[in-house]
Amino acid sequence: MKARVAEIQFAPKGDSRGQLIALEALSEQVPFDVRRVYYIFDTTPGTVRGKHAHKALKQLLICVSGACTIECEMPDGTKSKYCLDWPDRGLLIEGLVWRNMKEFSKDAVLLVLASEHYDEADYIRDYNQFKKECAK
Ligand code: TYD
Repeated sequence: MKARVAEIQFAPKGDSRGQLIALEALSEQVPFDVRRVYYIFDTTPGTVRGKHAHKALKQLLICVSGACTIECEMPDGTKSKYCLDWPDRGLLIEGLVWRNMKEFSKDAVLLVLASEHYDEADYIRDYNQFKKECAK
């Protein structure tokens, strides 16, 4: 699978009562079947999470409350940084991408939709190993 990071804009179904965003698996916004959902919250100030890549997992990250920063490194070494600070945007990450999650605001809730069940064997937690995999 080709590594890919893409910002996805959702269309809020707003009216005078407020906003609502609906996400459906296999839609344009969520281009995979969702097998797992988890969320990160109550993050200790200064914490950097992630610090790993996945071999095959597809994920859609949405900061549904507060804000956080996602840093990505592609297999060719290209680095990018995304500020997720509103629930109408998601960050799609597919394939071999090193990611750090940091600068969580106190009220940050980072929701993650994932294409696979939790599988430690899909993780690359060692940065040197990641660089080796990228060179293959
Ligand atoms: P970890 O991979 O360190 O989280 P992150 O990279 O998002 O900062 O996961 C923290 C712990 O939670 C670790 O013991 C594995 C466990 N875990 C699950 O059991 N299921 C899951 O879906 C995830 C993401 C983590």
